Formats: sequence, C-alpha cells, structure tokens
Amino acid sequence: MASVILERVVKRYSGNPVPTIKELNLVVNDGEFMVFVGPSGCGKSTLLRMIAGLVTTTGGRIHIGGRDITELPPKERDISMVFQNYALFPHMSVYENIGFGLSIRKVDRKEIDMRVNEAAELLGLKNFLHKKPKDLSGGQRQRVALGRAIVRRPKVFLFDEPLSNLDAKLRTQMRSEISKLHKKLNTTMIYVTHDQCEAMTMADRMVVLSNGVIQQLGTPGDIYSSPKNAFVATFIGTPPMNLFRGKILEKSGTSFFTAGSFQLIIPERFCKFSDASSDECILGIRPEHIYLVQNKPPQITCSDIFECEVELAESMGNEICLHCVMGDVRFQSTQKHDFPIRTGDKIELVFDVNKIHVFNRNGQSLL
Ligand SMILES: Nc1ncnc2c1ncn2[C@@H]1O[C@H](COP(=O)(O)OP(=O)(O)OP(=O)(O)O)[C@@H](O)[C@H]1O
Ligand SMILES: [Mg+2]
Repeated sequence: MASVILERVVKRYSGNPVPTIKELNLVVNDGEFMVFVGPSGCGKSTLLRMIAGLVTTTGGRIHIGGRDITELPPKERDISMVFQNYALFPHMSVYENIGFGLSIRKVDRKEIDMRVNEAAELLGLKNFLHKKPKDLSGGQRQRVALGRAIVRRPKVFLFDEPLSNLDAKLRTQMRSEISKLHKKLNTTMIYVTHDQCEAMTMADRMVVLSNGVIQQLGTPGDIYSSPKNAFVATFIGTPPMNLFRGKILEKSGTSFFTAGSFQLIIPERFCKFSDASSDECILGIRPEHIYLVQNKPPQITCSDIFECEVELAESMGNEICLHCVMGDVRFQSTQKHDFPIRTGDKIELVFDVNKIHVFNRNGQSLL
C-alpha cells in the first residue's frame, strides 16, 4: 500500500518543441483508485509510464510510498503494469504465464505456487491454469495479464487502457471485475483510459487531462456536476453539455442570457455575472436538463417554453436523444423514452434553470 506523489513533473520528448507533460502536481492517496482520462495524445500514457519508469522524467520528482523513485529503474519501483496488449507467452500455460515474473526473480517454487493459485482463485481462472493463451477468450487472457500483475504484490498497480481490445459487453464486465479486485486488494491503482464511461464508473477520483495539463481533479460526481471549464463540461457526459455563446444582461431586476434569438431568464444568483455583460460568456446545460413540457418533473424551476424542431431523433431504447434547432441555435436534449418523437416533429421544451453553468469567454467556470 502506498501513495503516489507527483511534484512539478515535466516530460519533454527530444525533438518536441513543447513539453508533453507540463509541471504537473498530483497526490494519489494510499489505496485510491485514480483514473487519468483525456483525449488521444493528451499525455495519459506518458504520465503513467513516467510513474512506471518506462519513460524518463525531464523535471520534477515522483514519490511512491514516501520514497523518491524518480531515478530508479522500473523493477525497483514496486509497481505492476497491465497494458492494452496483454502480451502473454503463447507457448506457456496460464499457470506459467502468471508465475513467470516470480520465477525470473528466483522466488521459491512453493511461494510461486501459492501466489499463482491465490490469484487464479481471485480471478476465476482455477480451471484454466493448464490451458494455453490460444484456448482462452479475450476476457480470460486479460485476466491472466491481471494475474501476472497481482502475484507480484506491488505497492501500486498501473493500467494503460487494459480493456480497449475487448468488445463492449466484455469491457463492461471486466470493468466491474477490476473494481471488485480493487475492493479486495485495497491497493493503490492508477488507470488510464480515454473512455469517460470507464472513468466515471471506476474512479474514486479522476484527473481530466488535456495537453499535458490537469484540467480538473475530483470525484466523478463532482466533475460531472461542477465542471471547472468548458473542456471538462463537454468531455465528460454523453451527449456532451450544450454550450451557447452570448451575454448575460439585466433588465428591471431580471437577469437573462441572450444569444441571438435565444433568450433565457436565469435565476437571480446569476445576476452578478451581468457585470461582465459587456463581455461574452458561455452558458452550459446538460441535455438531460432540458425537458419536454409534458415530461418535466414537478419540482424543477423551469424556463419559459421554447418551441423547436427536431432535426434528428436518435432512439437508444431506454432514452431518446433529440437534436433540436431553434432559430439560429442548435442543442441536444435527452428524454426518457415515453414519447414517440420523430425527426421533423415540432416540440415544446423547458430548461431546468437551476442546472445551468456559466463560463467566461475563455471557458473558465464562473460559478
Ligand atoms: N517516444 C515519444 N517520442 C516523441 N513523442 C512522443 C513519444 N511518445 C509519445 N509522444 C507524444 O506525446 C504526446 C502524448 O502521447 P501519449 O501516448 O502520452 O498520449 P495518450 O494520452 O496516452 O494518447 P492515447 O489515448 O492515444 O493513448 C503525443 O503527442 C505523442 O505523439
Ligand atoms: Mg495512451
């Protein structure tokens, strides 16, 4: 069990004019499940590999369990890493694959046997120990790769998109298996993914990265309900948060947001942003906070009714995503699938005005 502390870490690949990781600070608590999430190329794998020692650190320090490991080779860092490509040895049995790392470290055979069996038990691989990787499904192979990491009894587990090779159903299943494994082992885990669903469901806390900079660190709930900027607001959540560029104005004590022909009266507490009325701002609202008039929960404070046209209705069975157009603005609204709505329909919508977000013109939250 160990915490991981990153202190002003920098990574600059030779030949790259800008650093891939820029003076990043982070504390991953002992026993925590931390997820790094962000778009392709934002530096997730680089950061994880710096912790693993597979990529050298250009600047700053890294501590694992109170020990400065910045200069140590990977094998002395007390970490185990699981990759997307599980890279099992095809000629070895599951048993041999799981125990291989221990046997090259000259661990006693009895000890290896005990640890391999323990890991197999934990991962439901007991009946597969004699099989070769080619006789296993993708999910079982990934479990073998997990087993190989577990038997090392590391202080920290590092995962780099371990489920990306699996089909959607198996991915969901393995996701919960890894979460359960974390509960059982109670070991610090750092998990890299570009899949926000994985991040939201697995993380104790998560880091949203963009261009080598932490955009936000927090619990999935906090990040979803209080995104610090427009990048996080649109990266987390499907479909993404709707953003409207416009201004907040005040007239006779009423605050309203205006963007072209779209005008929304907003709660009084947003009045303070009307100071910045000469300045443009961004109003955000999640698709699930825009309701069909006939479907709106009684307790919400809703806006006036907006009439709009459905440009596209995408049914997902349990809900329907409506791509709406209203004058010169477009936005999306998700509805519980109680209403048969089709492309081209005219509908009436209301906004839950207590669920709006306000960002400045550069996308930083003003709330
Ligand atoms: N060995 C390298 N040499 C030079 N540049 C590199 C090297 N490895 C990665 N990069 C660059 O660093 C940036 C971050 O790459 P990284 O692999 O960390 O991204 P990522 O967030 O893991 O992306 P993905 O989701 O696609 O795996 C990219 O622009 C990439 O081209
Ligand atoms: Mg990567």
